Amino acid sequence: MPAISASAPGKIILFGEHAVVYNRPAIAVPVLQVAAKATVVADPLAPPHTVWIDAPVIGLSSALNDLDENHPLRYVISLVMQALGVSEFPSARIKLTSTIPIAAGLGSSSASSVALARAVSEFLGHPLLDDQVNQIAFEVEKIHHVHPSGIDNTVTTYARPVFFIRNRPVEQMEIGAPLTFVIGDTGQGSHTSVVVADVRRNWTLDPKKYDAIFDQIAGCTLQGRQVMKSGSLTELGQWMLLNHELLRKIDVSSTLLDSLVASAVSSGALGAKLSGGGRGGNMIALAPSIDHATEIASTLKNAGAVNTIVTTVPASKR
Ligand code: PMV
Repeated sequence: MPAISASAPGKIILFGEHAVVYNRPAIAVPVLQVAAKATVVADPLAPPHTVWIDAPVIGLSSALNDLDENHPLRYVISLVMQALGVSEFPSARIKLTSTIPIAAGLGSSSASSVALARAVSEFLGHPLLDDQVNQIAFEVEKIHHVHPSGIDNTVTTYARPVFFIRNRPVEQMEIGAPLTFVIGDTGQGSHTSVVVADVRRNWTLDPKKYDAIFDQIAGCTLQGRQVMKSGSLTELGQWMLLNHELLRKIDVSSTLLDSLVASAVSSGALGAKLSGGGRGGNMIALAPSIDHATEIASTLKNAGAVNTIVTTVPASKR
């Protein structure tokens, strides 16, 4: 039996992180330059129902049954088996690799779940549909984050730009002109669950203030959707900058994120903001053209980014 492989991309959030947890809209796009990849291969020489899993990026090499039942990778596999009505897994070796930086707001946990659910279901003879994969990845996100919005699993599953509102069907987006983003990594790991919990505590203490900011962020997201459709890059950059200011107000930025945003703008980016959970992880800058992206990337590196990725969202086909 040949090895079965599946992969899923990284992602960036263009608008609406954190507010999306409180039912406001958000926009995310896939980052195809980085991906998680799962490979499953039958191991007929192993004792029956022995599954070995290797995930070198998290230093994991273990029998599946030795993992805690709530371990995200074991949980993905048991949800797939449940969905397919399979009770015993044939002996196999599973390998999960990823080029998506971990704890950096680029969707590594979701992409791992999506890639694994796809590879395992195909290996078991019944590839799951995207909607089922998305649902499984969402269930697993609940282990990583107590109250996930579902945007990460959605964009990594469908691998296209999404306009997302919690608990609503995902909306496809129209993109009027190609959008080139430079992603700058602060190198500072940040756990989204911790930042999301802090925001929740502050929201509970002052719901009026926080809801007003979330409404303003929702305004940026709605305007962002419109200008992405019309292809007005200058306006798009302005809405990103406003969104970043609002994220600062809810205290999810950091000194380095703020200075990378400022450096990107000083080197000609039309706009920039943190992307994802914040307090570290990555920021994104909108380049006026693909040619200008290299200059922005080198400015970000000089300003302290440990890594940069240039990614382009193509215009929708008409
Ligand atoms: O996983 P991250 O760091 O890209 O953050 C996800 C976006 C949040 O809005 C902060 C959380 C969520 O569940 O939507």
